Amino acid sequence: MKFFIDTANLAEIKEANDLGILDGVTTNPSLMAKEGITGAENILNHYVAICNIVDGPVSAEVIATDFEGMVREGEQLAALHKNIVVKIPMITEGIKAIKYFSSKGIRTNCTLIFSAGQALLAAKAGATYISPFLGRLDDVSTDGIQLIQQIRVIYDNYAFNTEILAASVRHPMHIIHCAEIGADVMTGPLSAIKALAKHPLTDLGLQQFLADYAKGNK
Ligand code: E4P
Repeated sequence: MKFFIDTANLAEIKEANDLGILDGVTTNPSLMAKEGITGAENILNHYVAICNIVDGPVSAEVIATDFEGMVREGEQLAALHKNIVVKIPMITEGIKAIKYFSSKGIRTNCTLIFSAGQALLAAKAGATYISPFLGRLDDVSTDGIQLIQQIRVIYDNYAFNTEILAASVRHPMHIIHCAEIGADVMTGPLSAIKALAKHPLTDLGLQQFLADYAKGNK
């Protein structure tokens, strides 16, 4: 299972990368805005800065919602760095753009997936990744894990190469459930990744080991 971090914060990306378990990064316009990154040039430079930290796929989202605009922006993004994956929203124009990029060998991440039908369309268009938004579905009392499970079955039935990138992950149990049902990738905040390492019995056990060592080695 690949681990991506879902942020545009360079310090967090670096911290996750330093753990040695980071495979890639996802961003979106809201995450860029949260870091105060505005203006086309600054945004493009920020993507390059992320790519220079992480040697793996970095999703950069288009803003245009028409086919021509998405192609123009996507080509500009893809030309920035070899790590860039063009992130395209699941709308009908987006499906056309995914098909276009796939025929050009440019990797895509189809974002804002909330149904199995959307996932099927994106895979048929040749998306490299699809991003079902787990947490946002849970927020509206719909089982996000169940959706990912359904997509897994569909993709396996037809041997689609499109990778399921479980997005909108909020906490460590989301990650565990995604791993159980065979999501290819998860993207989440640094807090959720670090929380996987925590267990009170680990802390207590270590405390005891260190105390016992100190007693015998005064
Ligand atoms: C996916 O690529 C999105 O950036 C992200 O996971 C959305 O997460 P949120 O629902 O926590 O905003």
